[in-house]
Amino acid sequence: MTTIHQKFTVSFKYPVHFTRHVFDLDNSLLAETMPGRPGGAARALVVIDSGVVAANPALLEQLNRWFASNAAAIELVKAPMIVPGGENVKNGWSSVREIMTYAGLEHLDRQSYIIAIGGGAVLDMAGFAAALVHRGLRLVRLPTTVLGQNDAGIGVKNSMNDGGAKNFVGTFAPPFAVINDFEFLKSLPFKEWVSGVAEAFKVAIIADRQFFTWLCENAHHIKERDQGVMEELVYRTAQLHLNHIATSGDPFEFGSARPLDFGHWAAHRLELISNFSIGHGAGVAIGIAIDSAYAMLENRISQAEFTAIIKGLQGCGLATSSELLKRLNSEGEPDLLEGLEQFREHLGGDLCVTLPNPIGRKIEVHEMNRDLLKEAIRMV
Ligand SMILES: NC(=O)c1ccc[n+]([C@@H]2O[C@H](COP(=O)([O-])OP(=O)(O)OC[C@H]3O[C@@H](n4cnc5c(N)ncnc54)[C@H](O)[C@@H]3O)[C@@H](O)[C@H]2O)c1
Ligand SMILES: [Zn+2]
Repeated sequence: MTTIHQKFTVSFKYPVHFTRHVFDLDNSLLAETMPGRPGGAARALVVIDSGVVAANPALLEQLNRWFASNAAAIELVKAPMIVPGGENVKNGWSSVREIMTYAGLEHLDRQSYIIAIGGGAVLDMAGFAAALVHRGLRLVRLPTTVLGQNDAGIGVKNSMNDGGAKNFVGTFAPPFAVINDFEFLKSLPFKEWVSGVAEAFKVAIIADRQFFTWLCENAHHIKERDQGVMEELVYRTAQLHLNHIATSGDPFEFGSARPLDFGHWAAHRLELISNFSIGHGAGVAIGIAIDSAYAMLENRISQAEFTAIIKGLQGCGLATSSELLKRLNSEGEPDLLEGLEQFREHLGGDLCVTLPNPIGRKIEVHEMNRDLLKEAIRMV
């Protein structure tokens, strides 16, 4: 019997909305985003980041009032579930189990929704849980950090950390919709305000020189918490990320090219060895500095361009180095280099690292010279 060659495509589309005060009574965006079932309301479970609740004491009351006033459109199956904010929520499975348990108890089905409100970590965890129940509930993300709104919350992935590896498990599962409410950014501590700026530099350096120049020119406004500048930064970064996912030809990362992971092999290692005291965005800033130094040593960018990158990052309030870069393993080699090996393993054996060539354009390299890399680490 001859082989039957199965082939089909599934197309995905989802809106990424931008708004303010999503839970004001006169804001109907969320209700419009979530169609109900024939003749009935949409059914939803809300999962909220404890850090967002703590920083916005009026939020739960506002949210409950909004859902009460929109009860004909959306039925909240239970009181909002508050889960720990930050990376730790990805380090154990208890919140995933809790979401699954409530989804079962409340009979959520494949037309029901999980509304996840929070930083990238909570969105990754809730998205993972939503993807597992009935092989996928509808996920509406309301990212509340800069990094969530311009990167983690708008893409097609979720993940959990396991077995000592960052993002070891996860699925590709595009959301039903994303709503970026810029008001959430106002309650961020400075560390979280600025961490997502690293992702803006990342995508600008490899894909959009004009945006890179704009970021450098606006660095001091970003540091001074200019809300208008930040909103533009979030919008332009989201646009670049979404455009890449839609047009790269590999949204589910079957190949080994990962342009959006510029600077990330070092970032993931730093997150891990700092026990997550260095967060994702902070790690990315240092990773960008190292890979940019390496690109300069390979004559892919000029010394002036390297200096502009470092000045730009620092001007926004991002650190471009860490004491952990000096840590050596038992063979006397920089511990950071383990990150490159883990990245290679994650990609499936073939290394593929994106570098600027020059700023605004990218090149994929499949090998990194260890001596040059050590030199790059020393330089930052
Ligand atoms: N799925 C993806 O494609 C993707 C992409 C990039 C990053 N990520 C993941 O995202 C995570 C990082 O996300 P992050 O940078 O948003 O940090 P985070 O989710 O760890 O949140 C940082 C802190 O900010 C708090 N917080 C969130 N919103 C707040 C608000 N509005 N006001 C006050 N405090 C608030 C949180 O409670 C937490 O303590 C990492 O786990 C990373 O791996 C995922
Ligand atoms: Zn990232």
